[in-house]
Amino acid sequence: MAGKMIAIANMKGGVGKTTTVVSLAEALAADDPTASILVVDLDPQASASACLAGDGLLATMIEEGRTIDAFLALRLITREPARLAPRIRHAVSRTTHKGDPLKISFLPCGPHLRLVEREIIYNLTEREYSMRAIEGQTWKLFEQEFLPLKEAYTYVIFDCPPGISPLTEIAIRASDLVIVPTIPDRVSILGLDAFCQIIWKEPPGVLPKPRLLPHVLVTRWQKNVKQHQDILAQLKVEAKAKDPGICLLNTRVQQAAALAGALANDGAPTFKQKYGEVISVLDQLVQELKGVLRVN
Ligand SMILES: Nc1ncnc2c1ncn2[C@@H]1O[C@H](COP(=O)(O)OP(=O)(O)OP(=O)(O)O)[C@@H](O)[C@H]1O
Ligand SMILES: [Mg+2]
Repeated sequence: MAGKMIAIANMKGGVGKTTTVVSLAEALAADDPTASILVVDLDPQASASACLAGDGLLATMIEEGRTIDAFLALRLITREPARLAPRIRHAVSRTTHKGDPLKISFLPCGPHLRLVEREIIYNLTEREYSMRAIEGQTWKLFEQEFLPLKEAYTYVIFDCPPGISPLTEIAIRASDLVIVPTIPDRVSILGLDAFCQIIWKEPPGVLPKPRLLPHVLVTRWQKNVKQHQDILAQLKVEAKAKDPGICLLNTRVQQAAALAGALANDGAPTFKQKYGEVISVLDQLVQELKGVLRVN
């Protein structure tokens, strides 16, 4: 059976996207030791890459051109027959579970993704491609090189940058599921509305529509904060409306020290040591997502 592609995305920055990517990847791997997980970093800030690989390995991979931006530059600018899959680094996780390292592979992003995306536009417009054709060309490359990864991995998880870069939009539209981490406060909700409007409501141009509604995951939840309670109630109403714009996941990820430290790359903790009090929440999230994706 083909694996599932999950994009973790929100136009708003700092809402817990990368924390969700790393903790979800590790929770999926701990839940099923036979599963293979690939994390693809689409963010030139490279937080997921630095967390999973550590600074040393990440620097080596950037130097060797084993990054998304290097791949895109070769394929779309200099038009070389570069392949994506050989750039993946296997067995990167230093977190262990039941005596074995978690089975996580990853594909990093270098710092030049934004420049490469701009250069692609300059280069292809000079070759008289229209903007539509450029988008179509990037989509075709995604179909050729990213979608086949579903055959090799049980889960492919994209860490999207804040904002909506061209590659982020393609990953969102191609994924089986889009999880939108959202802090339940007023400012985050404004960003959520705008994000859902742009991707799910506006005409998609040459790209496909996303398969499912955006699945909102409440993060940094603090049950004693009145604003959080109010915004959660508002999200529940929106998700139950006649023609809802969102699905609201039942799992709520609380504000927790274990998650604040999830992106550190120090030592080789066990999954239990690393996540402690939030393990049950991560497990609930894994089971809920499997239900949404109809896995098992
Ligand atoms: N549940 C949580 N409890 C406590 N701290 C959290 C939690 N989730 C995220 N954080 C902290 O919030 C900050 C932002 O998290 P993160 O980097 O995951 O957000 P992001 O959406 O990926 O940000 P960006 O938009 O810059 O990529 C980090 O310092 C992280 O440690
Ligand atoms: Mg991030």
